[in-house]
Amino acid sequence: MSEIQTLKAREVLDSRGNPTVEVELTTEQGIFRALTPSGASAGQHEALELRDNDPKRFLGKGVLKALDNVNKKIAPKIIGLDCCFQESIDTLMIKLDSTENKGKLGANAILPVSMAVARAGAAAKGLPLYVYIGELYGVTPHLLPVPMCNIINGGKHAGQENSIQEHMLMPTGAKSFREGIRMVAESYHNLAKILKKKFGATGILIGDEGGFAPAQVIDISERLDLMLEAVAAAGYEGKMKIALDPASSEFFYDGTYKIGDKSYSGAEMVDFYVDLCNRYPIVSIEDGLAEDDWDSWVEMTRKLGGKIQIVGDDLFVTNTKRIKKGIGLEAANSVLIKLNQIGTVTETLNAIKMAQDNSWTAVVSHRSGETEDAFIADLVVGTNAGQIKTGAPARSDRAAKYNQLLRIEEELGGDAEYPGIDFRDYA
Ligand code: PGA
Ligand code: ZN
Repeated sequence: MSEIQTLKAREVLDSRGNPTVEVELTTEQGIFRALTPSGASAGQHEALELRDNDPKRFLGKGVLKALDNVNKKIAPKIIGLDCCFQESIDTLMIKLDSTENKGKLGANAILPVSMAVARAGAAAKGLPLYVYIGELYGVTPHLLPVPMCNIINGGKHAGQENSIQEHMLMPTGAKSFREGIRMVAESYHNLAKILKKKFGATGILIGDEGGFAPAQVIDISERLDLMLEAVAAAGYEGKMKIALDPASSEFFYDGTYKIGDKSYSGAEMVDFYVDLCNRYPIVSIEDGLAEDDWDSWVEMTRKLGGKIQIVGDDLFVTNTKRIKKGIGLEAANSVLIKLNQIGTVTETLNAIKMAQDNSWTAVVSHRSGETEDAFIADLVVGTNAGQIKTGAPARSDRAAKYNQLLRIEEELGGDAEYPGIDFRDYA
């Protein structure tokens, strides 16, 4: 038994310079902190991120109401409880909120408490966080993830309208996580050289997730050609695959998708991806279609699901109700996992479980607005999920996750496994 002694929240900054919630919880074992990330191309069906909407502070983005909810509503209920009761503490907060979407307390108030409780629980049991998450989840953690590294940023993360959002490298040909992240970092620096030579200083402007955001390169084929040129220059031809996150809800208007100056129906979008997959080593496409365009998702999975991973992010929002619907419809074959889309650690683990129980993959993910909190690194290993999406191999908000994975890999030693090209077989 290790009692929660104190709990308080404070307003701190995220990687975009916007306010976010940090909580601090104490037990006999010490102080445990957790911070909330924040999306920009957030899905309509996500749990609520509570903002103050007071234009005099942080352009309306203040989180003082969420702090109040932690300090005045959540803290009195959970101080004195045993921090090892993760599920009952999460359930208590869900009931205290009482809405479908964490609309009263805010997911940004509930989630950091849930994460800090998990850290305290791990310490109470004397376990590293990933091992403790493995206990909660019911597996022995051993699987390092193949990273999806976003080295060209577009869309909302780069101030561009009607453009594909994420262009990611997956080091599937590496023997270990450590080798994979080196391959990606070397390719990233080669891409910088290529872009600088072609476009000068504006070619190497950086987007929200640390990748390059060259406004001169809008065409998807041109972007992918540049990435592959960088991979070849780094000496890794054939050892890297490509993953895309178009985040297409952002360019979906009344039934029509718009990329650059071109328009597509749902069926035409699917054919657009079929063509891309024929021309490039693409192994995964996330949110190729909009968050409520279920019919087109089913069509895409029928045409491409046998060949590549079809990941639902805004479609599923880490919510088992929507994942269940998607499994029933065969609308995808993989779920993106974001803690703050649903708001507690327990519900996040349930979402991963539902995916894995149905032989779907689960890809653990950061948000475009991040912090130094590397919880997702422990989460991905703690569930043996096998894939993580956490941005470019640059900027401390992204590197923090990769660095924690390097530590975990070292700690696991000979027990560590890296799935490489077989990343879909571990579901
Ligand atoms: P977001 O983007 O964090 O801005 O929502 C990430 C994603 O779409 O995967
Ligand atoms: Zn996405």
